[in-house]
Amino acid sequence: MYPTDRPRRLRTDGIRPLVGESSVSASDLVAPVFVDATTDERVPIESMPGHERVPVSEAAARVEEIRETGVEAVILFGVPESKDAKGTRAYADDGVVQRAIRQIAADTDAYVIGDVCLCEYTDHGHCGVIEDDAETDPTFTVRNDETLELLAATAVSQADAGAEMVAPSAMTDGQVGAIREALDDAGHEDVAVLSYAVKYESAFYGPFRDAADGAPAFGDRRHYQMDPANRREALREARIDAEEGADVLMVKPALPYLDVVADLRREFDRPIAAYNVSGEYAMLHAAAEKGWLDLEATALESLLSVKRAGADLIITYFAEDLAEQL
Ligand code: PBG
Repeated sequence: MYPTDRPRRLRTDGIRPLVGESSVSASDLVAPVFVDATTDERVPIESMPGHERVPVSEAAARVEEIRETGVEAVILFGVPESKDAKGTRAYADDGVVQRAIRQIAADTDAYVIGDVCLCEYTDHGHCGVIEDDAETDPTFTVRNDETLELLAATAVSQADAGAEMVAPSAMTDGQVGAIREALDDAGHEDVAVLSYAVKYESAFYGPFRDAADGAPAFGDRRHYQMDPANRREALREARIDAEEGADVLMVKPALPYLDVVADLRREFDRPIAAYNVSGEYAMLHAAAEKGWLDLEATALESLLSVKRAGADLIITYFAEDLAEQL
């Protein structure tokens, strides 16, 4: 007890790094990349300063820029040339993400993760198959079991193109098992699955939905994404995905859900990922633009907190900018 016990002794410049319990480095980070089949030029994303949608022809160059900062892993999202009820451009061999993956695999040494979802590819903007009359039926649901096949086809087509990891984010029950089985059947035993195991129905995804043009045309995602009120349910979701063969378990969003990141860290021996989402990025940028917060310091503190809570890796829009400082 005081006066013998003085924690301040360990806070001088010389000792602080030696007793630091967590740290962030470029090798913990994954950078999101948006490839857009509707443009020949890079298009800035307004709600996410510093980010842009790039045409397939620029995908490898974009990834090289990221790698130059020290970040080696990217996750790809696609904006297709056209959308339809079943999201067919999500699992087309010549889909925008598949073409981009081929280019990136050929021209760079990046570790490539494909996001596996249908909402950017369906004309209704939901993450799976819905009934024809869904728009007028307030109780409609995404048809779970029919959606599984399409997600599995998407994962396999990304793996065929050269993705080393696929990341299902549709919150369809059974998606990890269906994808694992389809990958194995196609000879992709070595392609890993990063499961968005615990994905909440969050208002923090707003800027992403602008970026990837993936907002639902009607209704919301409450009947498939998790209720932000629930913590125990996160363990159930993660357990199911671990049993179905997920190699990495992810919590999304990150900062508002650090209790859940810590829970997963305690319960599972698999790597834990967290997705520091578009809204978490946009809010720091907005405050910094007003001169109310120091962008770099708050971004770094945010990611350090995600690491401290127990994440091994973080998907973040800050990856490139922070890696340059680290
Ligand atoms: C696709 C998907 C979304 C995000 C990642 N994958 C959007 C959503 O579920 O609405 C959000 C990422 C972010 O906000 O940064 N299902």
